[in-house]
Amino acid sequence: MKRKGKIKYKSDLTMKNIGSYPEVRLRRNRKSEWSRRLVQENSLSTNDLIWPIFICDGKNKTESIKTMPNVYRYSIDSLDRIVEKALKNKIPMIALFPNTPEIKKNAKGTEALNKNNLICKALKQIKKNYKRKDIGIMCDVALDPYTSHGHDGIIIDNYVNNDQTLKVLVKQALLQAKMGCDVIAPSDMMDGRIGLIRKALDKNGFKNVQILSYAVKYASNFYGPFRDAVGSKKSLKGDKKSYQMDFNNSEEALRETLLDIKEGADFVMVKPGMPYLDIIKLVKTNFKIPVFAYQVSGEYSLIMNGIKNKILKEASIIESLVAFKRAGASAIVTYFADRVAKILK
Ligand code: PBG
Repeated sequence: MKRKGKIKYKSDLTMKNIGSYPEVRLRRNRKSEWSRRLVQENSLSTNDLIWPIFICDGKNKTESIKTMPNVYRYSIDSLDRIVEKALKNKIPMIALFPNTPEIKKNAKGTEALNKNNLICKALKQIKKNYKRKDIGIMCDVALDPYTSHGHDGIIIDNYVNNDQTLKVLVKQALLQAKMGCDVIAPSDMMDGRIGLIRKALDKNGFKNVQILSYAVKYASNFYGPFRDAVGSKKSLKGDKKSYQMDFNNSEEALRETLLDIKEGADFVMVKPGMPYLDIIKLVKTNFKIPVFAYQVSGEYSLIMNGIKNKILKEASIIESLVAFKRAGASAIVTYFADRVAKILK
C-alpha cells in the first residue's frame, strides 16, 4: 500500500533545520582547536575528583599493592604529604580506606568501633594539622575491612543480618563524625542505613556532616584489586550477592536511590563506573541530586596495565573520566586523581 503524503517525524522542525550535506558539514566545527574548544559540551577539572587513599599500620611505610600498579598503602605519618598534594592540586576530597592488621579482625568487626583504629587516627591527625584547609575527608561505613570473613556486616545463620549490622554501622558512622569526618559514605548496602545514620548524626550534634550514599552498588567482579588493597580478599568467603545489587538490573537502581534520598542522603554514588554509565544517566535524569561515580579498582588496574604495557596512551585516563561527566556524574572517585590533576595542569 502506498503512503499518502510525507513521513511525519516527531520533531519535523528540527529535522528540517538540520539540513543535509553538502551545505551541512559537521567537520567544520572540528577543524581547529579553538573551534573545538568553543563547542565542547563537557570537560573534566580537578573539582571533579575524589582521591581514595589506603592506610596501613606502622611507621614510615609505603607499601605497594600487587594488583594495583602505582597505588600504595601509606602509614599515618605519610598522610600529611598526601593531603598537601591534594591541596596543591585542588582535589576537593580524599577518601580513606584502612588495611586493618589481621590480628585486629574478628567475626563482628569490632575494630570498626575502636577510637584508635587506623581511620580514626588518620582523621584526628588530618583534622588537627589541616583544620582550616579547604579539603573534605570521606570515610566508608561498612565492616569488610574489619571482619575476619571479609563481609560488610554481621553474619547470623550464614546470612549477613541487616538489622544487627545497622546497629554497628550507626556507631561506626557516629565515631567517624566525632573524629572529624566530613562525608560519611555507607558502602554496605544494608536496607535502612541512611535514615538511621542521619537521625543519629542529627541527634548527636552533627547536623552538617554530609552523607554520600553508595545507593547503587552492584555485586561486581571489578572490586578484586581493592579487596587486595584493604586485605579482605583472602578471607572473603562466598560473594556479596545477598546485599549488593544484581548487575542484570537497572530499574532497581531507581528504587535504591529514591529510598536513600528520602532517608536524607546528600549525594548518591553509582558503583562500579564505566560498565554502568547507563545507570549514572538513569539516576541523574530521574532525580535532581548530585550523582557521583566510582571508577573502581578493577577498572583502574585494566587501564593502568594498558598504559604500563604501552597498549594505551595516558590520554585514555582522561577519556575514561570524561565519560562519567557525559553520563551526568558531578564527581568521580578515581585512583588516578593525583595523576589526572598533573595532566590537567
Ligand atoms: C567496601 C568497599 C568495596 C569497595 C569500596 N568499598 C569493596 C566491596 O564492596 O567488596 C570497592 C572499591 C574498588 O573496587 O575500588 N564495602
